[in-house]
Amino acid sequence: MNRIIPIASDHGGFEMKQFLIGKLEETGYEVVDFGTHSPDSIDYPDVIHPLATAIERGEYPLGIILCGSGNGAQMTANHHHGVRAALCWNVEIARLARQHNDANILALPGRFVSNEMAWEMVEVFLNTGFEGGRHKKRIEKIEPKEN
Ligand code: RB5
Repeated sequence: MNRIIPIASDHGGFEMKQFLIGKLEETGYEVVDFGTHSPDSIDYPDVIHPLATAIERGEYPLGIILCGSGNGAQMTANHHHGVRAALCWNVEIARLARQHNDANILALPGRFVSNEMAWEMVEVFLNTGFEGGRHKKRIEKIEPKEN
């Protein structure tokens, strides 16, 4: 079971990131914090690209990213080959992101869900497997074929 979790957020997700790091560590995970390291305003690609690159390289199987809406973080991560970042706002969406989409990054909207909801989504995301089967050929069609 994977116990090392990379996490990254801009200022819009900073407070929630700190909360999630505490919960992850309490639960026995080792956390790799890609920043940001203060509530000061930053540009989300500056912290999301490094985490997504690490996922793309296979350094970690799963990761967590946050920004205010979750969208900027998710859009940035999904530019990376092999990355499937899923914007999630409730537990069932987080579960389906793993079961049906084999999402490898959970993207959270730091300003639009509670810390408690975010932690529930993290627990489900980290503990749910991909169902494969009919979903496998679908995710294989997500990335356009190179010409
Ligand atoms: C920052 O104010 C905010 O724009 C950012 O966190 C995010 O929501 C962008 O998608």
